[in-house]
Amino acid sequence: MRIKINNNFDRINQTYLFSNIAARVRDYSKGHPDADIIRLGIGDVTLPLPSVITEAMQQAVLEMGSAETFRGYPPEYGYDFLKDAIVSHYKDLGVNISSSSVFVSDGAKSDLGNIVDILGNNEIIIPDPVYPVYVDSNLMNGNHINLLPGNMDNGFLPMPDELPSGIEAAVIYLCSPNNPTGAAYDQEQLETWVSYAIDTGSLIIYDNAYEAFISEDLSHSIYSVPGAEECAIEICSFSKFAGFTGVRCGWTIIPDTLISEDGHQLSALWSRRQATKFNGVSYPVQRAAEAALSDKGIIELQKNIDYYRRNASTIASALDDLAIRYTGGINSPYIWLECPDGLGSWDFFDKLLHKAQIVGTPGEGFGQAGEGFFRLTAFGTYENTCKAVQRLRKLL
Ligand code: MLT
Repeated sequence: MRIKINNNFDRINQTYLFSNIAARVRDYSKGHPDADIIRLGIGDVTLPLPSVITEAMQQAVLEMGSAETFRGYPPEYGYDFLKDAIVSHYKDLGVNISSSSVFVSDGAKSDLGNIVDILGNNEIIIPDPVYPVYVDSNLMNGNHINLLPGNMDNGFLPMPDELPSGIEAAVIYLCSPNNPTGAAYDQEQLETWVSYAIDTGSLIIYDNAYEAFISEDLSHSIYSVPGAEECAIEICSFSKFAGFTGVRCGWTIIPDTLISEDGHQLSALWSRRQATKFNGVSYPVQRAAEAALSDKGIIELQKNIDYYRRNASTIASALDDLAIRYTGGINSPYIWLECPDGLGSWDFFDKLLHKAQIVGTPGEGFGQAGEGFFRLTAFGTYENTCKAVQRLRKLL
């Protein structure tokens, strides 16, 4: 062939982090077919969907099977019933957003990866370590990235005064509560980021996928910070909060007040992008998502979140006893620990897999500043989490 490819793909790792881990675990399993492997790696939920959600989905499927209630293509940006449920969910969190700013999608990962389509060649600021999608998608688009290192000293919550000098307007990715470190910015820190963005004409892309895990007195949305509607997009997910990792649904908020340097409304560009490249989320899934946000749905889902919280505190207390430093686990399903004995994060990954049959995620997979750290998820079953903790206590 004489076609050219997007050579920016040469700038990213050949394999996506979680595919790489899955391949290593598959290899190990082949050689150890009887090993009882406990998976605390990828943040995939294990509890089934509550019946309030499955019943709504079943009802919607039945509607699709009857001529009177059958529906074809869904609206590209989501059915009004789900957009209204999202608006009212924000109201319960004390935040006002308009229905026209809500764009329903098949998940936060897609939106985080696709948002680069509507942005030009800006400077990019990304805290390190971080969810790899931000870095990969910007590298694929040929953008220049400025990494902002997190560490134990700044609590893995880097602030604008740690940025190298000379960066002006930039696209800034923030994830709070953070994946992978579980650390969360407080209101004052978010206010500092928002005023930095306004002063420099920057855009914040706020990944709020873990909001439901906040247990302390922290902001539940970037829009609880005055001025954020002039500088921030918020991207959210039903995956972790409602157990939709396999169902697929999320949403993005783009206020009409976000205007580019040359006068374009970002929401209009995203509408245009989605209309061309996306055909909406299926009706049964949107009905399921609506049920997740209903009063009954929220009560049922809170039980699941409490279940995962108990796992997080089980892991955290073992680390306390072992005198291993960590962040997270309080406002987040992730626990980010310092690898014992100065081990590198992939070495620690191998040690846990080979000696304790536990799969976690090496910190380096989330960026250079993650080297020497390791992520465990609280999304396993309670039984497996307890078993993993026993093995950790024995090994470490
Ligand atoms: C993770 O483990 O970091 C997440 O599950 C990945 C994702 O949400 O795509």
